Amino acid sequence: MKKVFIETYGCQMNEYDTEIVKTILQQEDYEFTSEEKEADVVLLNTCSVRENANRKVYGRIHSIKHRRNGEPVMIGVLGCMSTNFRKQLLEDPKLPIDFVVGPDSYKRLPKILHDVEKTGEKGFDVTLSEFETYSDVYPTREKGVNAWIAVMRGCNNFCSFCVVPYTRGRERSRSPENIVDEVKRLADAGFSQVTLLGQNVNSYNYQGKSFAHLLTKVGQVNGIKRIRFTSPHPKDFPHDLLHVVADNPKVCKHIHLPLQAGSNRVLDLMRRTYTKKEYLHLVDDIRSHYEKMVLTTDIIVGFPTETDEEFEETFAVVDEVEYDSAFIFKYSQRRGTVAAKKYPDDVPEEVKTERIIRLNELQKQKSLKKNRAHIGQIHQILIEEETTKRSDKDVQGRNDGNKLVILPKGNLHVGQFVNARITDASANVLKGKVVHVPD
Ligand code: SAH
Ligand code: SF4
Ligand code: F3S
Repeated sequence: MKKVFIETYGCQMNEYDTEIVKTILQQEDYEFTSEEKEADVVLLNTCSVRENANRKVYGRIHSIKHRRNGEPVMIGVLGCMSTNFRKQLLEDPKLPIDFVVGPDSYKRLPKILHDVEKTGEKGFDVTLSEFETYSDVYPTREKGVNAWIAVMRGCNNFCSFCVVPYTRGRERSRSPENIVDEVKRLADAGFSQVTLLGQNVNSYNYQGKSFAHLLTKVGQVNGIKRIRFTSPHPKDFPHDLLHVVADNPKVCKHIHLPLQAGSNRVLDLMRRTYTKKEYLHLVDDIRSHYEKMVLTTDIIVGFPTETDEEFEETFAVVDEVEYDSAFIFKYSQRRGTVAAKKYPDDVPEEVKTERIIRLNELQKQKSLKKNRAHIGQIHQILIEEETTKRSDKDVQGRNDGNKLVILPKGNLHVGQFVNARITDASANVLKGKVVHVPD
């Protein structure tokens, strides 16, 4: 048996793909190890969404090489860098990479590994498929409370800044029956939460069946207590989906709704296909169905030609909406995207830095305000970890709105649902005391 070590970068879709890769290789003559030093094959499942993500991977490849000191180890690059950077990865003589395999070609991994070993030549397959959904591969998951499930793959939106449609290809959905079967197996295996994944879950469409339909079906599986999903796109948030989220008790009351920018001109250049007004209207609509819906977002600062005034519009939207939390990024030019072809990356680095700092400061105040409003309330918490970063006398879990909650350990264990009174809050985390442990 050959030993494989895999490291995962990027989003949850990549986490899920790593679990798919594990199953595919374990069916052949491979076993996985958590010790890089004892591996015969090192796989890096990469992300390419921003330049930083790429840089990290190049750094890692060099460090593996240095540690190895000429010992035989095969290094393979998987994931989103494979599709966009295949040539550089394979042709740079300084990079000791043996093979490059893209997100739709993982079923060919055993053959590629075998060929590389036999011939000593570099291998690759970065073909993107219109059909591959890995619906016949049951992922090898770590034990825990949450399971990721990709319900669709790829993206057809082509937001001008984004590399994902190029690295992951066209949209395709898995059948609801196939997904529900997997959810049943997960419930039987003891998972109490599933998170349904797609680059734009509103585009989920299997022979006319919508994402709202899928969510309802998943909600009918016994044993699954919480359902999360990410991400919907603000341009086409359907009303029936909003009803399911608001009314189905198993669906968590949290919507991640990427804003990206608050200025109509910038939104147009980004090809987001909604205006500030339409976005704010959607937020009102969500809150009119469920007042306390937790809202989170993604924002890009310093998109090409973004002026100070236009940034102030983003700032004003963040101030007005009062998100529970936000991921804020500096624009990073991605090769091959429409923005890279049409617009020079002309907002100076210092300006991007200034904008990101200001926005993060504002968001921190908003998160603190939102979190402090929970003090005194009783929340249902699903315990996820038996220790916290700071203490082994506490456990941590999440409430319905996906907020991290720290509780004194007592007899609590992972997978338990408990009711706790929130006693304290910072911008990032809530603290509580258990008031009731249901049977
Ligand atoms: N499909 C998801 C986004 C996936 S990428 C969605 O549309 O909701 C996650 C986030 O990364 C995006 O929402 C965006 O804010 C950010 N991002 C994508 N490309 C970027 C780029 N070129 N520079 C900076 N941030 C980027
Ligand atoms: Fe990228 Fe836009 Fe697709 Fe999200 S919806 S993955 S930001 S192209
Ligand atoms: Fe995810 Fe990064 Fe690819 S965010 S889809 S792993 S480019």
